[in-house]
Amino acid sequence: AIDVVLDVDTGVDDALALLFATAHPALRVRAVTCVAGNVDVDQATRNSLAVLDAAGHPDIPVARGADRPLLRPFNGARAVHGDNGLGGIDVPDAKRSADSVHAVELLRRTIMDSPGEVTLIALAPLTNVALLLRMYPETAAALGNVMVMGGSVGAGNTTAAAEFNIWQDPEAAAIVLSSGVPLTMYGLDVFYQVTVDAAGVKRLLESSKPGASLAARLLEGRTGTWRHESRITEPEAACVGDAGAVCAVADPQGLTTRSLPVHVALGEGPTRGLTLVDVRGNPNSVPLSGDVGVGQVDVGVAVDGARYRRLFVE
Ligand code: BDR
Ligand code: CA
Repeated sequence: AIDVVLDVDTGVDDALALLFATAHPALRVRAVTCVAGNVDVDQATRNSLAVLDAAGHPDIPVARGADRPLLRPFNGARAVHGDNGLGGIDVPDAKRSADSVHAVELLRRTIMDSPGEVTLIALAPLTNVALLLRMYPETAAALGNVMVMGGSVGAGNTTAAAEFNIWQDPEAAAIVLSSGVPLTMYGLDVFYQVTVDAAGVKRLLESSKPGASLAARLLEGRTGTWRHESRITEPEAACVGDAGAVCAVADPQGLTTRSLPVHVALGEGPTRGLTLVDVRGNPNSVPLSGDVGVGQVDVGVAVDGARYRRLFVE
């Protein structure tokens, strides 16, 4: 099994990611850490606990983390995820509350307990992860792999340039992307291409497995969402979003990556939060300017959407 820890801002598609990760037989979810992003950190923590209960995993440790980006005020995405962050779907509160330790501490313990074994799946602004790498630099070498949902080679979504998770906390993203940890970027270029169609939703609704009907209801609420940003052409298809990044950990062969330099734009103005990916791939090219925030990253450039659709529904 692959040991994973998920850092989330739950969020409809973070919920789908938690449901998929806990249901996949080859993934062992060791911990879930929460951060301000789609909703405030308290709501994200409540939602994560509730979703894990619905999934039949009330035993997985959950911790609350950063309540705002490193430098700037917090800006949620309730317009996309609804007031409760779960698209208005009512999921009963969990019977427990979060761990008393901070998310950064839970991340440290989980990673240092099994050096080299843990894959961190970061599906939210990178505030917790940046704090982890700065407070406990020894975790960088102890991390197995890092899968980040964030950024884009092409267009952004929150702004023309920037994807939401990077836009929310670009300084944190710059710290993480340039840290030298083995990192895969699951950006918008692939994110929008993993969807579930009406037949898949129906199968999930009919399943008696814990969490399957919640996944179906979350997907039903997403049908048509993000349509203008994506290339979703099937009228009934719903994007699984963050859950696709978990598919890429469970089944790396479905994601094609290229190792490329990536720079996070931190300046004021319309490019703030942009991930500038040097797609030239020519070692003789003039390097990206400035060392701050430039890292060598495995960038997801193509995804087998049909394969991940099957995997998600199975
Ligand atoms: C990302 O932002 C959030 O809305 C989603 O949960 C996903 O992590 C997409 O830009
Ligand atoms: Ca998310």
